[in-house]
Amino acid sequence: MSRILVTGAAGFIGSHLVDRLLEAGHEVTGLDCFTDYYSRETKQQNISRAVVHERFRFIEGDLLRLDLDEVIGVVDEVAHLAGEPGVRTSWGERFAIYTERNVQTTQRLLEAAARNGLERFVYASSSSVYGPDDGGPVDEETPCRPASPYGLSKLAAEELVRLYGREHDVPATILRYFTVYGPRQRPEMALSRFISLAYQGEPVEVFGDGSQMREMTYVSDIVEATVAALAMQPQGLPRAYNVGGGTRTTVRNLVRLVGEIMGERLEVGHGPPVSGDVRSTWADSGRAARELGYEPGVALEKGIEAQIRWALAGHRVPSIA
Ligand code: NAD
Ligand code: UGA
Repeated sequence: MSRILVTGAAGFIGSHLVDRLLEAGHEVTGLDCFTDYYSRETKQQNISRAVVHERFRFIEGDLLRLDLDEVIGVVDEVAHLAGEPGVRTSWGERFAIYTERNVQTTQRLLEAAARNGLERFVYASSSSVYGPDDGGPVDEETPCRPASPYGLSKLAAEELVRLYGREHDVPATILRYFTVYGPRQRPEMALSRFISLAYQGEPVEVFGDGSQMREMTYVSDIVEATVAALAMQPQGLPRAYNVGGGTRTTVRNLVRLVGEIMGERLEVGHGPPVSGDVRSTWADSGRAARELGYEPGVALEKGIEAQIRWALAGHRVPSIA
């Protein structure tokens, strides 16, 4: 049993990770400040099961302001998932929020990790660090050329993780998650929006012509990769791992699948393509398979079905973001 801090614990992925770590018998501290990126109620619902668990402690607070020695001094491992997530909303004035929530938070945590002799630090990075692919799968040696300010902020945070690993021996691992979906998915993400709008009989909005491709990863697969990274003793400098679901799809096909599973004919409106949105993502997750024993277990249709079932059970419809 370990004492594990999960930052961003009330978020989509963080809350699933918390549930999984509690199930495995760990003592879990969840930390979140309920940013206004989406509603506080939704996030409170995400952690409603965890907060009544006897091995769970919740800290409501901002990583930019908390005394992190106090927080990190009493745990063995950290999974750092807190951040500002949207790719397309990271331009303009809003970039300041991304530097604060993605870069400065990570630097503050790493400082505290270096001072407090942490056993493991896992950073939730993103496929967005790569930028456009060249039409084939990307592995971790592929040069990073982010196509959005968000991707750049995640890459800057990764560089901090490598720096503190090199200079201060923080035993860290970096996971690059590829588009994550499943129950509790953030309300502005594609599948969440398509399901809610379909339920309300309203047209879905596809950005561009819908031919853009995404490697889609079911949330329980992401959680298993994160648990494996927490369990591994990092050797040497922080290493990055792609975590992809093994299935790629066009956005157009996502709309089709949602319609088919819900038994609705979805009306589709097309908006302009959005700056920062790459044409395609494609993970080579071979390194994670070899070194973390990672193997995605949920096929796309099954995963979408699970997300729809969850949404229709009243968790996320009819109110949508
Ligand atoms: P989310 O917005 O649901 O969760 C992030 C949580 O972090 C939120 O609950 C927010 O309140 C909290 N938070 C933000 N800034 C904070 C701060 N300063 N102090 C304390 N709490 C703070 O997002 P998510 O989709 O669960 O993503 C989790 C992580 O995974 C993020 O770092 C994101 O960049 C990364 N990621 C997500 C995806 C995806 O498809 N969802 C893909 C790649 C990477
Ligand atoms: C997702 C997450 O939102 C990011 O936090 C994460 O870092 C990123 O994955 C990643 O893999 O690194 P994204 O792939 O844009 O980003 O995921 P969605 O928001 O689900 O969008 C998928 C595609 O659907 C995009 O091409 C988007 O333009 C499109 N889309 C989205 C629509 O056409 N309509 C919508 O209403 C929403």
